[in-house]
Amino acid sequence: MDDRPIGIFDSGFGGLTVVRALVDLVPGEEIVYLGDTGRYPYGTRPLNEVKEFALEIANYLIDSYDVKLLVVACNTASAAALEELEATMTVPVIGVIEPGVRAMVRASASGRVGVIGTVGTIASGAYQNFLLKELVNREPSHEIFLTCAACPGFVEFVERGDLESEQVHILAERLLKPLIDEKVDTLLLGCTHYPFLARTIADVMGSEVVLVSSAEETAFEVRDLLVREKINSGRSSIEGHFTSSSRSKVASSSTLSAENGTQTFLSSGDVELFRTLGTRLLEMEIPRVFQVTW
Ligand code: DGL
Repeated sequence: MDDRPIGIFDSGFGGLTVVRALVDLVPGEEIVYLGDTGRYPYGTRPLNEVKEFALEIANYLIDSYDVKLLVVACNTASAAALEELEATMTVPVIGVIEPGVRAMVRASASGRVGVIGTVGTIASGAYQNFLLKELVNREPSHEIFLTCAACPGFVEFVERGDLESEQVHILAERLLKPLIDEKVDTLLLGCTHYPFLARTIADVMGSEVVLVSSAEETAFEVRDLLVREKINSGRSSIEGHFTSSSRSKVASSSTLSAENGTQTFLSSGDVELFRTLGTRLLEMEIPRVFQVTW
């Protein structure tokens, strides 16, 4: 048992998709979330710079909040810094890329899959590389054809709270065309901001295309790790061991105590904007956001 908080960070509001999934899945856990809105967006910055930010935030969450686990709830930061964070941090680190890829491969019937993300994530080749590694462990008959597309502009719409306007729809039609042309049957939302645009993306892609959110998959990975390392909070008891096929069943049937963990929110940008827009996006009242200055 370990009652210390889980530390989660993103460039802004995107990682709230992971917070939401964790609040639902492991409600007894204490969460400290840092949205680096003062330095957002990450997706257009050089990866080395994003790596420095990620290391700085990780150290800050460990030193100031004594977190027991770090969740890099940002695909761009995962692409830029996950390896280094895993090698240098004193607590376990979970990124969003690997859980997303596994779920995408599981979900696809035709093997024609797509990933969308920021310019930085897609250009890093992180998805292509991890998918190759995953496929080496599968039977040769399991062929996968991957199409990747960067979606510049999507993150900015989310950060403005514009999730379904005609403008974002028009942008989505243009950016998602290559995925439609390639007839993908599964599309991985490879940026934690994108699940907020899921309705627009689903409208454009068509109802037959399965959308996979790396946020939810990451929450399952966190839960597995808490159980495996025996570091889940004493406020909730999580029972059982999860396999990919039984995840959803176990998720709904585990025993959770009535006492919920609390969430602490930090922002390096405008804290009042973070509170109001964050409350709307998270669909949960954020009473207060603490200022972080670098
Ligand atoms: N949410 C972040 C991600 O998953 C990126 C947003 C940004 O460009 O800052 O990549």
